Amino acid sequence: MTWKIATLLSAVLSLGSFTAAESIPKTDYDVIVVGGGPAGLSALSGVSRVRRTALLFDNQEYRNAPTRAMHDVIGNDGTPPATFRGLAREQISRYPTAHFKNSTVLSIVPYGNSSVSAFNVTDDTGKSYTSRKLVLGTGVSDVLPDIPGVDEAWGKGLFWCPWCDGYEHRDQPFGILGNIADVLGSVLETNTLYSDIIAFVNGTDTPAGEVAATGQHDGWKEQLEAWNVKIDNRTITRIERTQDGETHQNKTTDQQFDKFLIHFTEGEPVERGAFIINAPTVQHSTLPAQMGLNITNEKIDVVTSSMRTSMAGVWGVGDANSDASTNVPHAMFSGKKAAVYLHVEMSKEDSQSKVSKRSGLSQRELMKEAIRAIGSNLEPQWEQVEKREV
Ligand SMILES: Cc1cc2nc3c(=O)[nH]c(=O)nc-3n(C[C@H](O)[C@H](O)[C@H](O)COP(=O)(O)OP(=O)(O)OC[C@H]3O[C@@H](n4cnc5c(N)ncnc54)[C@H](O)[C@@H]3O)c2cc1C
Ligand SMILES: *[C@@H]1O[C@H](CO)[C@@H](O)[C@H](O)[C@H]1NC(C)=O
Ligand SMILES: *[C@@H]1O[C@H](CO)[C@@H](O)[C@H](O)[C@H]1NC(C)=O
Ligand SMILES: *[C@@H]1O[C@H](CO)[C@@H](O)[C@H](O)[C@H]1NC(C)=O
Ligand SMILES: *[C@@H]1O[C@H](CO)[C@@H](O)[C@H](O)[C@H]1NC(C)=O
Ligand SMILES: *[C@@H]1O[C@H](CO)[C@@H](O)[C@H](O)[C@H]1NC(C)=O
Ligand SMILES: *[C@@H]1O[C@H](CO)[C@@H](O)[C@H](O)[C@H]1NC(C)=O
Ligand SMILES: *[C@@H]1O[C@H](CO)[C@@H](O)[C@H](O)[C@H]1NC(C)=O
Repeated sequence: MTWKIATLLSAVLSLGSFTAAESIPKTDYDVIVVGGGPAGLSALSGVSRVRRTALLFDNQEYRNAPTRAMHDVIGNDGTPPATFRGLAREQISRYPTAHFKNSTVLSIVPYGNSSVSAFNVTDDTGKSYTSRKLVLGTGVSDVLPDIPGVDEAWGKGLFWCPWCDGYEHRDQPFGILGNIADVLGSVLETNTLYSDIIAFVNGTDTPAGEVAATGQHDGWKEQLEAWNVKIDNRTITRIERTQDGETHQNKTTDQQFDKFLIHFTEGEPVERGAFIINAPTVQHSTLPAQMGLNITNEKIDVVTSSMRTSMAGVWGVGDANSDASTNVPHAMFSGKKAAVYLHVEMSKEDSQSKVSKRSGLSQRELMKEAIRAIGSNLEPQWEQVEKREV
């Protein structure tokens, strides 16, 4: 057989629609998930059930760690968060492609190119792991006001979310902590749970505070009056727990009887059974900023139809993302959504890569076949072609 025919066939074949598709970078895992809360666990579950190899990092700093029980997560109403996560881990661990590591991720270096993503993840044990896709479920942190007693009360009678622990304190004397501008917003979320409501506004009942309140809600004052909400403008010094709902509960009726005294610079303290507070949140981890992801108002920008971030190959899930929802059902939903999208994205890449390998192979096979079938019979024709070309 002659190299000339091979060259000719090869030239002809390469004229087709053969495209040099990307080869897939060789990585330790398909996916690395940072975060072992409900968002990260849900993403891990989703990728594990389609047998994507995945490693989840968890440094065990969970936003709802202080709370006694998780609520409004159907089928798990009243389950302690650690029990819930433990059950999730145990179930996901049954998938052989799922892996866990309890450590802190210190850096994530993207090393892919414009066509394929790849990430190099280094943790505080000094080890590095690579993956094709990355999920950040790193959560947020609550920035609590600097009032003595607030940290201790957090998640145990003092809450930001009525759905979290409001019902367990229903009909108890209730307090709203915060600026006067935020009071009506809290009342609108809690008026079905409480009727004895005092807003402790810590000196913000001022002309400027009224302007800010009007900016939030027109007619706020009349509405507060209509709900019979009292305003206490005194300067708060501390919150003191006088009874622990952990030991004073009625499990039959799902009631927790916490008691607090709120103290002021002057006058008598006031007793309340529960408080709501509006506390800002910030990114829990510096990783999203380190990686240069787009972040707006302390939330990782994502396209909510897929939970993709501004960086190719990176998904942002749970409280940390910009989906404007911070609860366990959202964490699970967004983790699941990311899992579906990144699996299919990888499959598309795999598919492209397979096609290109296959066309490479059939080209070779076709060549062999041609060589065997044609032998030297084509040699004279080849000579003619050559002559014509010359
Ligand atoms: C007091 C309180 C009570 C709440 N109660 C409820 C409730 O009853 N019902 C409800 O639906 N929601 C509740 N929430 C909200 C709920 O906690 C969050 O919506 C939920 O935890 C979000 O899940 P996530 O996975 O996004 O983040 P998180 O649960 O906060 O998990 C973040 C994960 O990221 C990990 N992580 C971060 N950075 C790194 C790193 N560099 N390396 C390794 N790991 C890292 C952390 O260790 C953690 O595993 C409550 C919140 C608070 C504050
Ligand atoms: C991107 O990286 C892949 C895998 O390493 C490689 O096959 C491909 O040629 C690269 N593409 C570009 C555009 O550099
Ligand atoms: C990792 O953390 C989880 C959750 O706290 C715990 O259940 C598990 O035992 C830990 N694993 C190791 C190896 O320490
Ligand atoms: C990942 O980072 C580590 C630590 O910097 C380095 O040793 C390793 O070579 C990197 N791996 C890749 C694939 O870039
Ligand atoms: C309450 O008001 C006092 C006096 O103005 C101030 O020092 C303190 O920081 C305020 N506390 C909060 C939580 O805003
Ligand atoms: C509320 O407290 C602030 C700060 O002490 C004070 O300036 C303001 O006049 C008070 N408002 C009312 C209605 O008393
Ligand atoms: C719990 O509430 C039920 C119903 O009101 C009541 O019968 C029971 O005595 C209460 N239990 C305790 C321990 O208070
Ligand atoms: C990220 O931010 C840059 C600069 O503001 C902007 O051009 C880009 O569109 C943003 N990308 C996404 C996905 O939000």
